[in-house]
Amino acid sequence: MKASSLSFQAAVLLVLVGMGWGLAMAISGDHVTHPGHAHLNLLGWVSLFLMGIFYHLHPALDRTRVAVAQVWVWIVATVIMALGVGLVHSGRDAAEPLAAIASLLIFADMILFAWIVFRRDRMVGVPTGMPAE
Ligand code: HEM
Ligand code: HEM
Repeated sequence: MKASSLSFQAAVLLVLVGMGWGLAMAISGDHVTHPGHAHLNLLGWVSLFLMGIFYHLHPALDRTRVAVAQVWVWIVATVIMALGVGLVHSGRDAAEPLAAIASLLIFADMILFAWIVFRRDRMVGVPTGMPAE
């Protein structure tokens, strides 16, 4: 799958979950987990969709293994971070290492994305590992 398609599809799924989370908070009147909700939406919807647009604008990058891997790490780490932050804010301190490790992974993955953005012109011809359409 292309990095952009993966980004767009994961982003719409994550925002549906994020909105469900927001509605649950609003209906229950208990907003204590809002930082988890905020980061699920901001990293899983806004940031991921923006990354998808970037990859879509650079078709030579879109099918590269490094781009697809970057998006997968972002998705998995965002879900773990949002859950971890939500759990910590609802009093489950045991989830703190989960939130911490996922946050560091997100930071590292953003460094990788920044590297891809800066190197994009030189990355044409990087092996994709995927058959041409
Ligand atoms: C059905 C849609 C949504 C509902 C019902 C909802 C509901 C909520 C609620 C109840 C809070 C807690 C407010 C507070 O106690 O201060 C909140 C916070 C927040 N939400 Fe949502 N939300 C929705 C969608 C989104 C989306 C799509 C985004 C981002 C693109 C977003 C970003 C945020 C942020 C950043 C905060 C934290 C704001 C702060 O710290 O003051 N939300 N949301
Ligand atoms: C590794 C990535 C990130 C980490 C570790 C992180 C961590 C944090 C922490 C510790 C807070 C304070 C939460 C609290 O008051 O309990 C916060 C708040 C906030 N962050 Fe992040 N953040 C990250 C990425 C981002 C990104 C990429 C965005 C926007 C695109 C963002 C938007 C916000 C917003 C709007 C708030 C205030 C809303 C809230 O209280 O949840 N963060 N973040």
